[in-house]
Amino acid sequence: MNIYLDHSATTPVRAEVVEAMLPYLGEFYGNPSSIHRTGRKAHAGLDAARRTIAQILGAKTGEIIFTGCGSESDNAALRGIALARREQSGANRIVTTPVEHKAVLETAIDLRDHYGFELTILPVDGDGQLDPTAVEAVLDDDVAVVSVMHANNEVGTILPIGEIGALCRVRRIPFHTDAVQAVGRLPIHVDELQVDALSATAHKFYGPKGVGFLYLRQGTPFHSVLTGGSHENSRRAGTENVPGIVAMAKALALAEAEREAEMARLQILRDRLIGDILKAVDGAQLTGSPNHRLANHASFVVDGVEAEGMLIALDLAGIAASSGSACTSAAQQPSHVLEAMGVPSRLAVGGLRLSLGRSNTPEQIDYVLEKLPRIVAQIRGMMPVAL
Ligand SMILES: Cc1ncc(COP(=O)(O)O)c(C=O)c1O
Repeated sequence: MNIYLDHSATTPVRAEVVEAMLPYLGEFYGNPSSIHRTGRKAHAGLDAARRTIAQILGAKTGEIIFTGCGSESDNAALRGIALARREQSGANRIVTTPVEHKAVLETAIDLRDHYGFELTILPVDGDGQLDPTAVEAVLDDDVAVVSVMHANNEVGTILPIGEIGALCRVRRIPFHTDAVQAVGRLPIHVDELQVDALSATAHKFYGPKGVGFLYLRQGTPFHSVLTGGSHENSRRAGTENVPGIVAMAKALALAEAEREAEMARLQILRDRLIGDILKAVDGAQLTGSPNHRLANHASFVVDGVEAEGMLIALDLAGIAASSGSACTSAAQQPSHVLEAMGVPSRLAVGGLRLSLGRSNTPEQIDYVLEKLPRIVAQIRGMMPVAL
């Protein structure tokens, strides 16, 4: 039994995607910057991938910068825009939220601690939701960049990016969104979202790891973070990962073509998971927004149960789940997202995230619903009774 319910951490690479990238690991091995035919073949693959991604996003091809991962895209957006904006206009403040992925939060903190930026971290409510009027209240000429994630990786909440984008747009303040969890799961059109920069990574939509992209609207102030050669129009030095990029474009095209039908299918499974777990597991509470949440995402805290024991027991039963974020789970620290949402630490240690994807079937959900309540009961039986 192997039921994979950790698609927010990563997804398996689709067979069609492997097939698309193979020629670029073999016969089309050239350096895309080379002038000769071998190089031009690789360059053609790069061009085609850029066109595919730009077209899906409603962007211009020159607005797509290939990167090494979602974290790099986030770093490039925050550092690249904040530094360039300050140079241009003196704006010195970064505005973000406490529920961002660490790739955004730690970058913002680094820019504060080592580059002299001011940092405003806006509060979120108990669902992890951000009120656009709270953003509006802090927007002024001193704001260099605003960064708000599209969908949260730990609790699945979808944030009102279009509304926040519109508020930034009228004040001509660059707006970045970390759309790593949203791409392939939500409609992504850069003009409708009113974003100036958007981060994505292939491994969340059935592409390979180690490749991502940053959408950067034409005219957005930007200072390259990776310096060297003039790759990516001098916005990201380094020979491009051609096989990975070709694979990413293929994965995105497939995900986009199937998105509506697949998300409708997953939402039914997700709603069963949520409804039945809340009924069958005593002390389980949903985390994140009940209504504005990713169709593939179910997350909970379970009172009186530590995540680690629950995850090990689930793994032994053939179910791969997570406590929230794969990036911090090894660190055994309370989730900064749950903390920001006001979840008491007693509950926050019992985080459980079940994130669905292409391989999941109704029968698998039946199996999880049969196993999980028993596992929780077993763990509770083993734990000392609180006095
Ligand atoms: C919301 C969010 N942003 C950024 C990242 C980082 O992406 P990558 O693993 O490609 O660096 C992740 C990955 O978990 C994520 O969920």
